Amino acid sequence: MELSVVESPKVLVKQFFGNNAKSYDKVVGITTFGKDSHWKEEIMTRIPKCGSILDLACGTGILTFKIAEKFPDAKITGADITEEYLLLAKDKTTSCHKISFLLCDAEDLHLDDVFDCITSSYIPKYCNPQILVERCLQHMSAGGKIILHDFTYPKNKAVRLLWNLYFVTLNMIGFFTPRWKDVFRHLPKLIRSADWVEQYKDAMERKGLSVEVTYLTIGCSAILAGTKKV
Ligand SMILES: C[S@@+](CC[C@H](N)C(=O)[O-])C[C@H]1O[C@@H](n2cnc3c(N)ncnc32)[C@H](O)[C@@H]1O
Repeated sequence: MELSVVESPKVLVKQFFGNNAKSYDKVVGITTFGKDSHWKEEIMTRIPKCGSILDLACGTGILTFKIAEKFPDAKITGADITEEYLLLAKDKTTSCHKISFLLCDAEDLHLDDVFDCITSSYIPKYCNPQILVERCLQHMSAGGKIILHDFTYPKNKAVRLLWNLYFVTLNMIGFFTPRWKDVFRHLPKLIRSADWVEQYKDAMERKGLSVEVTYLTIGCSAILAGTKKV
């Protein structure tokens, strides 16, 4: 499927995540050379001690379970639009975990609850910044925090060259891993066109949040943390 990722990255979600939940944890670890785990630890360090945390686009729950283990007394909610991923997250849940999982579109979030912190790893590039920030704010308590993480296209020219070569290789590997073929093929285009850091920063600042941006791993990913002023 040829697509215009710039116009509608959301159409990719089904195509990317429709039938590969079982191998996701392994694939994200291997393809990021273990950096996914490091990036999630960086997210963790930014979560304040609080009573309730919503992990949007929780997928198989890698980050959600880390949060639940670090904050055993907090009310944790994981939400995702892909049922197969969510079922896997539910399967991993033990009686020690106080987590509720919800099947829903983050851009169409209408819960009765508010949260002290909202996290999300890898969602920004699939969503409209104004809509997602608005939804987060509607579900955030006073003084709450939004922490968004995703891939970024490195700014340094030499790193860009390596980054592009890496995705060419990954695209070739995709021919031997049919369930990941579309992801490996279209992800670089999506990341290059996303410019999500500036767009979400702008959307958050317009809503009066103070925002901090941190680039990680020579500019291959970033974390944006927005705090609601009280
Ligand atoms: C790359 S996975 C990341 C999963 C998890 N956050 C992690 O870091 O391991 C991306 C996830 O985003 C979910 N997703 C994408 N768009 C979404 C939306 N609008 N609402 C909820 N989930 C969404 C997909 O279903 C998929 O599970």
